[in-house]
Amino acid sequence: MAFLEVKDLTRIYGKKDNTLTALDHVSFSVEKGEFVAITGASGSGKSTLLHLLGTMDEPQEGSVFLEEEESVLGQREAKRSVFRRRKIGFVFQEYNLVPVLNVEENIQMPVRLDGKRMDPQYLEQLLKILGLTDRRYHLPEELSGGQKQRVAIGRALANRPSLLLADEPTGNLDHQNGLEVMSLLKRSVEEFCLTLIVVTHDPAIASMADRVITLSDGVVISDAKVKHALSADVSAMDGRDAHE
Ligand SMILES: Nc1ncnc2c1ncn2[C@@H]1O[C@H](COP(=O)(O)OP(=O)(O)OP(=O)(O)O)[C@@H](O)[C@H]1O
Ligand SMILES: [Mg+2]
Repeated sequence: MAFLEVKDLTRIYGKKDNTLTALDHVSFSVEKGEFVAITGASGSGKSTLLHLLGTMDEPQEGSVFLEEEESVLGQREAKRSVFRRRKIGFVFQEYNLVPVLNVEENIQMPVRLDGKRMDPQYLEQLLKILGLTDRRYHLPEELSGGQKQRVAIGRALANRPSLLLADEPTGNLDHQNGLEVMSLLKRSVEEFCLTLIVVTHDPAIASMADRVITLSDGVVISDAKVKHALSADVSAMDGRDAHE
């Protein structure tokens, strides 16, 4: 079984004759360490899918297995929330930082909420990788948007999740800051061998992924590997060879 197995996932909102099928039998699987971008028009079901993957919502039909464990259907909320805390990190478009806590306190918050102390070495490593070491005592209001999102990424990684989910993580940033946040996200995911699923409208960000899944009206209409610069260079060279 793959790291993440999504099978026939169906989410219908509303009741009786006023229903909307936001996801319609969506199936795919993701290998450990993969970086998948989810794209699609507004209303196509991207956030709905991410919420289900994150066990924040329940489907009418279908299943999600994360590391061979069934994560959504028929599980009690108490069990789901433990599962969520231990295995899944979230990054949203809004940073949702606690305004009265400084950078390192915000990052440590999920661990503290669990009544534990964060390994100081791991905290240093996160601050360093996210370029926040010299901002560690700053409050959110003293940070730029990109820095705030980097803190939110640190917080999502605090509990060492195996799956990181991000819904439009660069939606509030300008293009340049967005790309910078994405490359930091990508680097941290590689460093800690995580699996990353990012919802995005931005083709430049989707092209950073290993694979892009496109939704339309709650259905997967395409699921394709991304050709990266290296392979593009190789094919360009192949083309030149053929020409010569
Ligand atoms: N709580 C809800 N109750 C009823 N309908 C909902 C609810 N949440 C979402 N929907 C509907 O489900 C569909 C999918 O919504 P979703 O938020 O997943 O789209 P999205 O692809 O994330 O869009 P966007 O790019 O605008 O964020 C939309 O038609 C939306 O109106
Ligand atoms: Mg959305």
